[in-house]
Amino acid sequence: MSLPESARVTFLTGAGISVASGIRPFRGPGGIWNEIDPDEWATAAAMQRDPTRCWRAHRELAKIVETAQPNAAHRAIAELEGKVASVTVITQNVDGLHARAGSSKVIEIHGGLSSLRCTDDACSERVDAMAAGEEPPRCARCGKPMRFDLVLFDELLPAVAERAARDALRACTHFFAVGTSGVVWPAAGYAREADFAGAKTILVNLEPPDPPNPYFHEVVLGRAEEILPRIL
Ligand code: OAD
Repeated sequence: MSLPESARVTFLTGAGISVASGIRPFRGPGGIWNEIDPDEWATAAAMQRDPTRCWRAHRELAKIVETAQPNAAHRAIAELEGKVASVTVITQNVDGLHARAGSSKVIEIHGGLSSLRCTDDACSERVDAMAAGEEPPRCARCGKPMRFDLVLFDELLPAVAERAARDALRACTHFFAVGTSGVVWPAAGYAREADFAGAKTILVNLEPPDPPNPYFHEVVLGRAEEILPRIL
């Protein structure tokens, strides 16, 4: 596939792009949710019930991410900048690997592990994530436990990120979804939005979409870290 210099390319990435960096996906082969129940770990209700348990689980993920390195797929996306008119990365991942690979426009629609916020939604306290202990640190403003600034299942996306993502979908000429099962909304609807905007839509994933997604014009099955350096 050749991308013209005038291409405005938007990527949507998911956990599959970071598998080659040693970070487990949620679904599919080796998926975390095959073993543990997301209701227990990744919902606002679980956070309210037991913030310490959620803290410890997210801290384990943060430790893995701390030592992980971007792989050939993250680098291929970063290296596309300058060769086409624009590159925007919308990611569901919280690992920060796109920015570390050198991508300059990254929209983290599910938040990130690099900051903490208060578990009390009415409190606006946010701090950089710190080297963390077994117990969640306390909010300097109100004393409640802090949490990683991730979007959990029953929570809304950050409005600024969601708006930026929508703009990037409307403006693109080429849309690639990479390493995502395409079952979590609103990202599951992004291929459709890009198609409606007139973009060419391509899925790069280990497995075909299930159920099939008619809004992908092309599906390339395989490992993102092998395919993206070849096709971009
Ligand atoms: P999933 O774990 O649902 O899907 C990862 C996809 O990547 C699967 O379809 C795999 O087949 C594929 N895959 C695995 N290794 C790959 C590789 N090397 N190259 C290409 N594809 C590969 O991850 P997401 O779609 O990102 O949300 O999941 C979406 C959201 O569900 C996550 O952000 C998280 C999760 O629960 C929340 O926690 C709110």
